[in-house]
Amino acid sequence: MTLIIAMDGPSGSGKSSAAKGVARVLGYRYLDTGAMYRAVTWWMLDQGVDVEDAATVALRAPEVSLEISTDPDAPGVFVGGADVSEPIRSAEVTGAVSAVSRVPEVRGLLVRLQREIMAAGAIVAEGRDIGTVVAPDAPVKVFLTASEEARAQRRAKEIANPSVSVQATQADQARRDKLDSTRATSPLTKADDAVEIDSTELGLAEVIDAVVRLVKERA
Ligand code: C5P
Repeated sequence: MTLIIAMDGPSGSGKSSAAKGVARVLGYRYLDTGAMYRAVTWWMLDQGVDVEDAATVALRAPEVSLEISTDPDAPGVFVGGADVSEPIRSAEVTGAVSAVSRVPEVRGLLVRLQREIMAAGAIVAEGRDIGTVVAPDAPVKVFLTASEEARAQRRAKEIANPSVSVQATQADQARRDKLDSTRATSPLTKADDAVEIDSTELGLAEVIDAVVRLVKERA
């Protein structure tokens, strides 16, 4: 059986840093599925597609040629061979990604690609629907949460733009979480058998330790 560690949770819960850290400790690969939805969104915007037009997004999605690195020390995402790792973090892409990720055809394409990547060996995969949809048989599932305020503070620090306030980040995040949690296809939700870790009061090393302990107990 392929070892898959599923880590889901809302934005700013610290999933990416924790998932990368766990992958490094265990010598596993790492998959940032959010980066894949962001890359498709970047391409749609670049092509001038109206992301609210779900029919066009669905029709054009198969044109996206997407590659992603699974090295936790050198993560990167490529569209048509070009490195888009930086532009996919822009405010424009962040604001548009939930509209693209709710389109079932986009999810179908990306879930298939994610499963192909996962089948190649041990991996820590992070996202919104890994434990529920992409890898429901994963032996270890973590649902990482944190208070809304702690999550907004982390995101604001990541954005590192003094003109973007914590309050604005919190509002944007709440909007995105609401869209991600209420969409019809694969909404963000905790799998019944996932272990919830609240990282509000925990440092990164403590979260990584908690997940690694779970893997050692269960995998
Ligand atoms: O994790 P990150 O914040 O980069 O994810 C960006 C967006 O991609 C999320 O807000 C969500 O709309 C979408 N996403 C998803 N399913 C996943 C991972 C991300 O729908 N497995």
